[in-house]
Amino acid sequence: MESRKKAVEIRQVSKTFGTFQALETVSLDIYDNEFFTLLGPSGCGKTTLLRMIAGFEEPTTGQIVLHGSDIQSLPPHKRRVNTVFQSYALFPHMTLEQNVAYGLENLRWPKDKVRARVAEMLDLVHMSKFARRRPQQLSGGQRQRVALARALAPEPEVLLLDEPLSALDLKLRQAMREELRALQRQTGLTFVFVTHDQEEALDMSDRICVLGDGRIQQIGSPREVYENPANRFVANFIGETNFFDVDVLSVEGDQAKVRTPMGMELTATQKHVRPGQKQATLSLRPEKIGLDDQASGQILSGTITSTNYLGGFTHYVVRVGDADIRVSRRNDLSDTPTLAEGATVKLGFSPAATRVLGQ
Ligand SMILES: Nc1ncnc2c1ncn2[C@@H]1O[C@H](COP(=O)(O)OP(=O)(O)OP(=O)(O)O)[C@@H](O)[C@H]1O
Ligand SMILES: [Mg+2]
Repeated sequence: MESRKKAVEIRQVSKTFGTFQALETVSLDIYDNEFFTLLGPSGCGKTTLLRMIAGFEEPTTGQIVLHGSDIQSLPPHKRRVNTVFQSYALFPHMTLEQNVAYGLENLRWPKDKVRARVAEMLDLVHMSKFARRRPQQLSGGQRQRVALARALAPEPEVLLLDEPLSALDLKLRQAMREELRALQRQTGLTFVFVTHDQEEALDMSDRICVLGDGRIQQIGSPREVYENPANRFVANFIGETNFFDVDVLSVEGDQAKVRTPMGMELTATQKHVRPGQKQATLSLRPEKIGLDDQASGQILSGTITSTNYLGGFTHYVVRVGDADIRVSRRNDLSDTPTLAEGATVKLGFSPAATRVLGQ
């Protein structure tokens, strides 16, 4: 990855509104041809960062570089960056064709080039047959496709997408995820995608930047941020997990020996423990725990205090000593029966499935 060309460099950028610091100093690189996602809860600064890349907002400190050039002094329309918004922002009185052509005409493209590009873009998003319609004659998904065509038309170097799917219903959202991903591959453009939906981020991204409290919490592939979360915030925000406060007894390479509140000592995987760190959090994902016949490795005994049947999965809470441990069990081919509340169960996990987090 490091040898790839950088599309966007965020160099020590911070943003303050009045006295409120929306973003602490952040630095990150986004590579050419990458599907890069900014993921984080509401208010963590995702839109602010995107707006600074687009030029709608000025960084308080730092520098933003696009393909090697400092773009700080360029107004939004001079940056080869376009944005797709949640609200589509199409012009209601124009046809789809006119909507897509608008930006190109502003850039003074010749008429025949505009015509060809509009046709190509509407084709790309499968909307050619609606070219003469107006936005209000379209569904939400169709409008979003036209917004994409319009943003892609002027050949931007980077496409910014601010929660573009959040106004759509669940099924359509899922279908549009695949379309967006295919569109990114087809065009070979760099996409910077903003979402607060962790599943969307895991599904679509090459890399994810998890933002929280105006800071970068972790940057990594979907697998890295899920399997090896840097800290409690990331482990909690992406998926579900069980946390245990543990004492760190020793660290060797990517292994840490810890003592759990249940009294046992474990050797767990670590990647983010600081030298000298004595206390840490141990994370154990609910799906990595086996119940009864599926229990192996480190065995504990507990009582089921709640069950939630969710179709593909059943979620259990098991009380072990004074800890509540969440367990997720797949309702697989064997048609696993739901275990009853109040039942005593064995639960087991491999220490290799546990993670010691940094702070
Ligand atoms: N123009 C502004 N003036 C003052 N505060 C602002 C301004 N724009 C954003 N903020 C604040 O900065 C913080 C980050 O806002 P931002 O819009 O970047 O969040 P977000 O991560 O995009 O959230 P959401 O998921 O809700 O869209 C918020 O606390 C917000 O209230
Ligand atoms: Mg936002």
